[in-house]
Amino acid sequence: MRIVLMGAPGSGKGTQSQRLVEHFGIPQISTGDLLRSAVARGTEYGLRAKAAMDSGQLVVDEIVLGIIHERLAEKDAARGFILDGFPRNLAQANELSKLLQSIGAPLDAVVLFEVDYAEIIKRISGRRSCPGCGRVFNVYSTDGGAPRCDRCADKPLLLQRKDDEEETVRKRLDVYEQQTRPLAKHYGDKGLLRVINAQDSVDEVTKRLIAVLESLPAAKRLAAAS
Ligand code: AP5
Repeated sequence: MRIVLMGAPGSGKGTQSQRLVEHFGIPQISTGDLLRSAVARGTEYGLRAKAAMDSGQLVVDEIVLGIIHERLAEKDAARGFILDGFPRNLAQANELSKLLQSIGAPLDAVVLFEVDYAEIIKRISGRRSCPGCGRVFNVYSTDGGAPRCDRCADKPLLLQRKDDEEETVRKRLDVYEQQTRPLAKHYGDKGLLRVINAQDSVDEVTKRLIAVLESLPAAKRLAAAS
């Protein structure tokens, strides 16, 4: 099963991807996570990406496409994958389509998460993540209010992402509207788009998402291959 999750910053793509990994047994490929890891490790890609990420702009396509080519070539992506935060503009979408065509493995669906902006601002301002395992929490949710990670043995303090500061979030939302949101029409025209209301609780959104994905022919292929 090869799917793309798209939606505004903070709409819940990363949270839901982790649940889909458990449900379908295919990897999450998040360009945001891959770029943050490159920045933390100080790789050439990371050094070049950092300024754009800190200011809420898109990282140049050349870097993102380089990272995606490398990641999709890894063995675990052969059964399928969940693309989280990629593609983010038309050039990336076209490049992805060419790449998948060349290996005879086209996309099965693109799911758009719809959440209103007031909720997004609240979710992002409350987001904290663990510097150890990367798990995402939210100070507004009942089970995620702890300031420390309860999964890691040394219980590290949860951190706020630098690009989650208010001004940068505003920029990221603008970039989403101008460059990413138009992809909904692009994929709609290809018959691949599925839209879900992602405004409700995490569990409710997971139920909706899984119902949409289970209805795809790809879910039956995946189940038969397991
Ligand atoms: P990236 O990391 O992809 O950020 P994003 O798309 O802005 O998405 P977020 O990670 O902010 O949100 P999310 O939708 O995953 O929400 P989450 O599940 O965490 O990108 C960061 C930067 O990297 C970009 O700005 C750009 O510079 C660069 N980049 C990345 N990809 C690129 C590309 N392809 N091309 C160029 N540049 C690229 O949830 C948010 C919070 O809400 C959490 O606290 C969570 O616990 C909570 N939450 C989730 N769901 C719910 C719910 N249903 N109810 C209540 N709370 C919820």
